[in-house]
Amino acid sequence: MTGNSSVHSKGACRVCGGTVEEFLDLGSQPISQAFLEPRATEKEFTFPLTIGRCASCMMVQLLHDVPRHLMFHREYPFHSSSSQAMQAYFADVARTLLRTELTDDDPFIVEIGCNDGIMLGTIKDAGVRHLGFEPSGGVADEARAAGVRVRGDFFEEGTAKEVCAAEGTADVIYSANTLCHIPYLDSVMRGVDALLGPNGVFVFEDPYLGDVVTKTSFDQIYDEHFYLWSAESVRATAARFGFELVDVLRLSAHGGEVRFTLARAGTRTPAPAVAELLAEEQQRGLSELATLRRFAANVNGIRDDLVRVLTDLRAQGRRVVGYGATAKSATVLNYCGIGPELVEFVCDTTLEKHGKLTPGQHIPIRPPAAFADPYPDYALLFAWNHAEEIMAKEPAFTEAGGRWLLYVPDVHVV
Ligand code: SAH
Ligand code: TYD
Ligand code: ZN
Repeated sequence: MTGNSSVHSKGACRVCGGTVEEFLDLGSQPISQAFLEPRATEKEFTFPLTIGRCASCMMVQLLHDVPRHLMFHREYPFHSSSSQAMQAYFADVARTLLRTELTDDDPFIVEIGCNDGIMLGTIKDAGVRHLGFEPSGGVADEARAAGVRVRGDFFEEGTAKEVCAAEGTADVIYSANTLCHIPYLDSVMRGVDALLGPNGVFVFEDPYLGDVVTKTSFDQIYDEHFYLWSAESVRATAARFGFELVDVLRLSAHGGEVRFTLARAGTRTPAPAVAELLAEEQQRGLSELATLRRFAANVNGIRDDLVRVLTDLRAQGRRVVGYGATAKSATVLNYCGIGPELVEFVCDTTLEKHGKLTPGQHIPIRPPAAFADPYPDYALLFAWNHAEEIMAKEPAFTEAGGRWLLYVPDVHVV
């Protein structure tokens, strides 16, 4: 291991202290969004990307965590609003919260990981009191420029208590694609306990273990995705901190998530969907090591298939270009050992990624215009969660004879 990633005391669960049993080793990995300048000379930080499951509370989690300031900082390159589909999605989330939970005289909503204000912008437009926590300075400034109130800190026990002291309790604490990024979940839950009003709800949505296993979408595992939730593990965690899992909703915004709703124990009647999802997880043995080891075997199969297909295409003189320099792609590229000899470049709309190299494998990143100049034979879709939006904006590629290459749920061409 290079750098200073921290290993929790050998195999101890970050939530309950139980024994974490490893079921998949994705090798040495760089920071997923540490895109490099072409002439950078400093050694890349790497850490062992291994994942396991706690035998006591069933929480699926990484065995090593990366210091948070190495991932979330002023140059954090992920802008939530870069997808139009996600803009529409989060406007809808905000409208739903306004209609269902933020109905008192002077409601207050706090978001953990508001990024560029994609969700809170709609809350602000409705004139509702709000505060976003966003430690990554660049995207936080974008949210502020859009009129959203942002605190440039990590949400945790101390910062949550400060907000409560200054602004009172929150009716809703909401978080999308962020809670699973936070190894120090105990501190976050104590913060939620301090800040949430007596009848409030803590709503968070993240990739769902059930979808990752079904789709073999192992690229959902990377430095930032420390936890992969199941209803079973979330219910157990909620109970440890005096909360109850009162609703679950399956989503397909980013390739398969669940929106979990937690309330203080005994304050709300759990929706039938909770028992249904728990029963489904039991029935399929989602948290069993045998299931997770089968998943790991499928991951190896996808790696072998993908490397073989790319190697064959290159041997036939075909050009393959990547589409979407996603965080997720770092796991695929580095686990499979796919570099510029197999994938010529990756195109992406994000300005600050242009001209840089992907972490670990050093594939150049270019603007979307490079994609058509001229079109490659195959486009390897790293942003597969945005397939519909991307394919709809690139009709000329397939009309010119190009084909999309995907690896979720298996390696196939469309
Ligand atoms: N909610 C947005 C952003 C997800 S990216 C969306 O769904 O698109 C995750 C964000 O969480 C990043 O912007 C990162 O800076 C932020 N983050 C990481 N740790 C955090 C913490 N402890 N508190 C608040 N935000 C955090
Ligand atoms: P995303 O899959 O949302 O997340 P992550 O990085 O967490 O895996 O990332 C989407 C990336 O794809 C982002 O860098 C922007 C890029 N992108 C495009 O290049 N074109 C598009 O049309 C869309 C929707 C995204
Ligand atoms: Zn545990």
